[in-house]
Amino acid sequence: VVVAQQVAKAANSLSDLRDAMGHFDHCDLKRGARNLVFSDGQAGARVMIIGEAPGRDEDRQGKPFVGRAGQLLDRMLDAIDLNRESNVYITNVLPWRPPQNRDPLPIEISMMVPFLRRHVELAQPDVLILMGNISCQAVLAKRGITRLRGNWGDAWGIPALPMFHPAYLLRQPQMKRQAWADLLEIKARLGALA
Ligand code: URA
Repeated sequence: VVVAQQVAKAANSLSDLRDAMGHFDHCDLKRGARNLVFSDGQAGARVMIIGEAPGRDEDRQGKPFVGRAGQLLDRMLDAIDLNRESNVYITNVLPWRPPQNRDPLPIEISMMVPFLRRHVELAQPDVLILMGNISCQAVLAKRGITRLRGNWGDAWGIPALPMFHPAYLLRQPQMKRQAWADLLEIKARLGALA
């Protein structure tokens, strides 16, 4: 983790950081993954989304949120006039797919958090959206998405809103009501900060 901190801090641009992660060999997930999944969307956007880890589709394409959960995410964002073509930046806590999409281990998360933190520092968003428990654990050191969602937290000095993960919403569509409330909250916050 100390090596990760040093390597991440030394990166002075997003492309540096991507290269540094590509060369980082201290996270076992890298071995089982086809691709490094770094980000998608607009670097420098006011809104940055942090998901969990690549799934099968993301691992194949090297881009975050391109599978079914990603399609739902795009529809959710579109409802508040956000999209990756113009005003959203998207990444994950883990840049490599865990085997069989298992939950990431605590050591895998803590090893990669320094890179995530540097990623946020370099991207400089106005707000962060934390998708699901793993993202809240990595960024806020808190768990319990049902309790956390809809309440702004502080992520390294940036306002961060926990939300239900779109993959969870695909399994529990009745929870979309809460997700809708959270999307309106983001829209209001962006308006207030503008
Ligand atoms: N779920 C995530 O958390 N991230 C992705 O990129 C895809 C699915």
